[in-house]
Amino acid sequence: MEQWEKYPVEAPVEEPFRQQYFMERLKEMVREKSIEYGRPLTACIKTFGCQMNAKDSEKLMGILEQAGFKPSEEENSDFVLYNTCTVRDNANQRVYGRLGYLNSLKQKNPHMTIALCGCMMQEASVIEKIKKSYRFVDLIFGTHNIFRLAELLFLCYTEGRMVIDIWDGTDKIVEDLPAKRKYSFKSGVNIMYGCNNFCSYCIVPYVRGRERSRNPEDIVQEIRGLVKDGVVEVMLLGQNVNSYGKTLEKPTSFAKLLKQVAEIEGLERIRFMTSHPKDLSDELIETMRDCPKICRHLHLPLQSGSSRILKQMNRVYDKEQYLALVEKIKREIPDLSLTTDIIVGFPGETEEDFEETLDVVRRVRYDSAFTFIYSKRTGTPAAAMENQVPEEIVKPRFDRLLTEVQNISAEMCKKDVGKTMTALIEGMDSHDPSMVTGRLSNNIMVHIPGDSSDIGKLIPVKLLESKGFYYMGKKLP
Ligand code: SAH
Ligand code: SF4
Ligand code: F3S
Repeated sequence: MEQWEKYPVEAPVEEPFRQQYFMERLKEMVREKSIEYGRPLTACIKTFGCQMNAKDSEKLMGILEQAGFKPSEEENSDFVLYNTCTVRDNANQRVYGRLGYLNSLKQKNPHMTIALCGCMMQEASVIEKIKKSYRFVDLIFGTHNIFRLAELLFLCYTEGRMVIDIWDGTDKIVEDLPAKRKYSFKSGVNIMYGCNNFCSYCIVPYVRGRERSRNPEDIVQEIRGLVKDGVVEVMLLGQNVNSYGKTLEKPTSFAKLLKQVAEIEGLERIRFMTSHPKDLSDELIETMRDCPKICRHLHLPLQSGSSRILKQMNRVYDKEQYLALVEKIKREIPDLSLTTDIIVGFPGETEEDFEETLDVVRRVRYDSAFTFIYSKRTGTPAAAMENQVPEEIVKPRFDRLLTEVQNISAEMCKKDVGKTMTALIEGMDSHDPSMVTGRLSNNIMVHIPGDSSDIGKLIPVKLLESKGFYYMGKKLP
């Protein structure tokens, strides 16, 4: 892959100082351009994929704002960045589809700079395709070097050619760069990057690199800063938070990190994503049970209920172990809401294997589940398996699973009607201006009468009616 190595002599070598230098240089250029155009320069980031990407986009927007761009939701902005996902093929197709639209905008506004970053860009075949068929793209970078946006955009402006900077991996974690948060009252916080699990269907370890944990001190310090800024809820982010801290110089555990975070005064709620069943410890279950700040929600991806398929998936647990784990968790924390991810149509999946998945779904009774049709990702072991399941068999299975999952979550959602629970009000109801929506500790949404002054507040709410996967409620008098 191409790597840019030509630096202006005066730029510092050390990070984050180097990027701070380029943010200043970029700022000068942005200022000159806004004088030329007679208006501020706008920047728009469209985010695809998971919470990791959402968090990365906040960091990217932080850099752009510091450089003088005005954040915008409009894709006809002066700088447009797509932060891409490649976990399933439909994520890639969406990006290609929208790029055509971006090109039409750029024809009308030649000043426009179009950039691509994120997981999809870590794939060599994607870069080749863009270089060949999407020549109007100005800047491409990957997942390991987002902190360099200011430097790369500066280069793009000064050299006026397509700039590509993709790293194969990194052991570097650059701290202390700006971020523009989407919500004032809640925030994602990276606790680790990358993944070492290599589930056989999954591309994430290839595009996000090896697992690296941040130091607990850095995490706590960041959250302290967020709380000072008005944040009451954090979501600790990692592909497998249960292996947090194992490779640090001073090894620690995820449960210990949770305890440290829970001690932060002013922080009201702690969530985390994602928990791999294979190393979910008793220490974690006890910590969740004993710490009221930790939300009553656990996302525990199942992927398949068939032990045979789980083995092929390299998930390192079987059906019985998963069910035993769920039983232990439910026993210790009865009011915990459980959610999951399930893949249908993994290579070699038979009707019997699929029935095992349905069986686990019926036994666990998830509060909700994300269901996916298996998508072949080039380069993963599963893509090379010969017994790929044809679509006409997978689709009906997927529909059956979806019906089952939805019926169960509707029943689960009914069980708390009449109770009073605390909701963090997140925003106005998009359909009704006299209502606001809030999130309960168990991650279920509730709609209540209210106004914008409620946003960001933790409010006790009476749950009046279940609408299947959310509630209608009211504030207590
Ligand atoms: N690290 C998380 C998941 C990240 S990807 C975990 O291990 O749980 C989110 C979800 O996408 C996965 O849980 C899986 O259900 C789904 N997924 C990943 N690769 C997929 C593929 N090739 N086809 C279909 N779904 C996939
Ligand atoms: Fe993918 Fe498995 Fe890593 Fe999750 S744990 S990101 S599914 S390889
Ligand atoms: Fe997609 Fe990358 Fe997340 S592939 S799911 S955006 S880690």
